[in-house]
Amino acid sequence: MKTGISQPPIDTGKPHPARVYDALLGGKDNYPVDQAVAEHLPAEARTGAFQQRAFMNRATAWLAGEGVDQFLDIGTGIPTAPNLHQIAQEIVPASRVVYCDNDPIVLRHAEALLVSRPEGATDYVHADVREPGTIIEAARRTLDFGRPVALSLLGLLHFLPDDEDPYGIVRTLT
Ligand SMILES: C[S@@+](CC[C@H](N)C(=O)[O-])C[C@H]1O[C@@H](n2cnc3c(N)ncnc32)[C@H](O)[C@@H]1O
Repeated sequence: MKTGISQPPIDTGKPHPARVYDALLGGKDNYPVDQAVAEHLPAEARTGAFQQRAFMNRATAWLAGEGVDQFLDIGTGIPTAPNLHQIAQEIVPASRVVYCDNDPIVLRHAEALLVSRPEGATDYVHADVREPGTIIEAARRTLDFGRPVALSLLGLLHFLPDDEDPYGIVRTLT
């Protein structure tokens, strides 16, 4: 995996979704501002975070079992084992996975933790889902869009208000 881009700064003075989610999951890659938000969320948010990871796990395993071997995961979050490529490659070792997030802290961890098996491939794109064309072009380095690609937008679209055209973004991606 190559990120191939400079590392943008991490702002620890305001909460970030990826780090709040990491705090909800009991991770260590978050700061007091993120922990403060996590503590103020209703208890269901914590349960929901674990259920969302469990859903990602089940859905990826099902897709890989059906023969899907290419994945584009936007809004990846801070790596939390098992990550999507680990689940897919456990079933189809040659699976190719492109991760994408707009949070600099995810970028910092991606290179170290989202490492493919030799039979497959992983790549990471630091980009915003509101620029779907940029993501598609970057994902082309790794994915063959002439074959099926599973698109994962888990826990992401609720960050986009209607005036940012979430439906149009999903249409472009699909
Ligand atoms: C709640 S986490 C979900 C993580 C993972 N998909 C999961 O379901 O376990 C949401 C992720 O979306 C990312 N995110 C939020 N807005 C984004 C945007 N406009 N473009 C790309 N990523 C974004 C956040 O940085 C965070 O990592």
